[in-house]
Amino acid sequence: GTTPPASSQTLSFDSVPRSLADQVVVPDGYSVDTLLAWGTPIVAGAAAFDPATNTAADQAGQTGMHHDGMYLFQADDSPNQGILVVNHENITRENLLPAGRSVDGDGMPNDPEQIRREMAAHGMSVVQIARDGNGRWAHQMSSFNRRITAMTDIAMSGPVAGSEYLVTPYSPDGTATRGTLNNCGRGFTPWGTYLSGEENIQGYFTTTDTSPALSRYGIDDVGFGFFWAAVSDDATDEDNGEFARFDVTANGSGATDDWRNEVNNFGWVVEVDPGDPSSTPRKRTAMGRFRHEGVEPSLITEGKQIAFYMGDDARGEYCYKFVTEDAWNAASPAPDMLDRGTLYVARFDDDGTGKWLPLDVSKSATLAGRFASQAELLVNTRIAADLAGATPMDRPEWSAVDPISGDVYYTLTNNSDRGSDGEEAVNAANPRANNTYGHIIRQTEAGNDPAATTFTWDIFVFGAPASADDNINRSGLTTDNEFAGPDGLWFDRRGVLWIQTDNGGNEVADATNDQMLAVIPAALSGDRTITPDNQASLKRFLVGPQGCEMTGSELSADAKTLFANVQHPGGRFPDYTDGVPPRSATLAISRDDGGEIAL
Ligand code: FEO
Ligand code: CA
Ligand code: CA
Ligand code: CA
Repeated sequence: GTTPPASSQTLSFDSVPRSLADQVVVPDGYSVDTLLAWGTPIVAGAAAFDPATNTAADQAGQTGMHHDGMYLFQADDSPNQGILVVNHENITRENLLPAGRSVDGDGMPNDPEQIRREMAAHGMSVVQIARDGNGRWAHQMSSFNRRITAMTDIAMSGPVAGSEYLVTPYSPDGTATRGTLNNCGRGFTPWGTYLSGEENIQGYFTTTDTSPALSRYGIDDVGFGFFWAAVSDDATDEDNGEFARFDVTANGSGATDDWRNEVNNFGWVVEVDPGDPSSTPRKRTAMGRFRHEGVEPSLITEGKQIAFYMGDDARGEYCYKFVTEDAWNAASPAPDMLDRGTLYVARFDDDGTGKWLPLDVSKSATLAGRFASQAELLVNTRIAADLAGATPMDRPEWSAVDPISGDVYYTLTNNSDRGSDGEEAVNAANPRANNTYGHIIRQTEAGNDPAATTFTWDIFVFGAPASADDNINRSGLTTDNEFAGPDGLWFDRRGVLWIQTDNGGNEVADATNDQMLAVIPAALSGDRTITPDNQASLKRFLVGPQGCEMTGSELSADAKTLFANVQHPGGRFPDYTDGVPPRSATLAISRDDGGEIAL
């Protein structure tokens, strides 16, 4: 029921100024509500938020911390109600445990209840929300509401399920694990499910082993310093390595005797069915194992295969896509479409063309020579992509697909190593040495076919301070739209591209908190990139409160509310009350005149 996209559309708001204030800044004529702040009880019987007294069980019935990617499931004929699924990427421990962690003399944690609280603040929230007669959104207690945490039972699915690589004492047949971690970017499917990318899983596991399979994924003896494995398990079968599983050192007689394989159960895309609260989330191993960000589907066409575009967020890592084997059939979707298909990694050539390289032992002699099975390849996706000759990128974060053109966009958030001694040289797709500001790259699939194996590409916009010289500020940004650290990226259904930032430590961060900008690529003339001549097309819509990054956004079915997540605020947001810690939360932004957002 919303305005159809038109290439003549323009953004109707005035760019907001840069801000260092501890508040959410939106354009004149817009208002902001906050919902689902960390600790909001969403499951029946859950306790009220009180960090001084809440238990792990309380936290498991409340929203988690560090809201990130999200998706709003909403029927067009039900504009005032929907189910929101929100990722909880990580925790801020000093807020979760205000009295501090209980530790031994060696500094290692020793309180299982505290560690269970840390685990319960991770994962996802599935929660029904509704708009009241005054236009304000709030959560509702609903049988659909659930929390998924680092302890939830998860099914392993696809080519790696049932293989030796996933065998643990908890799952001797390698088909199940417990929990999902560092849920960052998101995706969705046309069959009504939510996709969540597991990103920095190396933070949670420790090992003294240094095999390539572990080191290529950054698994070391410290991680984030969480040291969950330092806490003693209760000696009961039910616990079965509740904490010990986070030390993946091979110190037993085999994979059913120690936790060497537990880490292989993490680093995947997780599929959740929000319409069935009793369903078991599934990790879809065919989509590869890396530091997953977004999982954005291509445009959905009846009778065509579907591609899912994905970034691996680390310096010099790659852009990927997964193409389903099955074509889309809306009346009778094939079951488990994410378990069958081809995983590709992108090579960006300097002439503006590119190639999708299949990561499939049946399609590459090189890969077949290195990996005994597709299961082994998928567990080691990064090593396979190295061998295939993919182009190392400047930290691929979210992906987004233009509903008008079908073009694919990826945020490349930054890479200060680019071009320095011993690191990747600059190339056309990552053209700035010491890329501290990031850029956004765009792909056009050959024939606009999501299953294509070739594409063309260009750079849509370069982040930069307005004051930088032309060789750095290549898009000619001004103080009205300067940004750096592009991260969250999303097209609404009208063709508005929303850019969210996770920036720090540079001139842009000195001038403004993290922000959201908007642009309509289809309305740009010429080659449809941001240039010094079309600066009014890229506008700053929002500046977040102090210390946050902005990540995850959605538009209501009637386009009258924009939802956006404030992650890890560092000031007083959103309570602005002494004694209440800052809390990640979801913003609900609307227009005072009741009109559509942004247009
Ligand atoms: Fe979770 Fe790379 O951001
Ligand atoms: Ca983050
Ligand atoms: Ca991110
Ligand atoms: Ca980031």
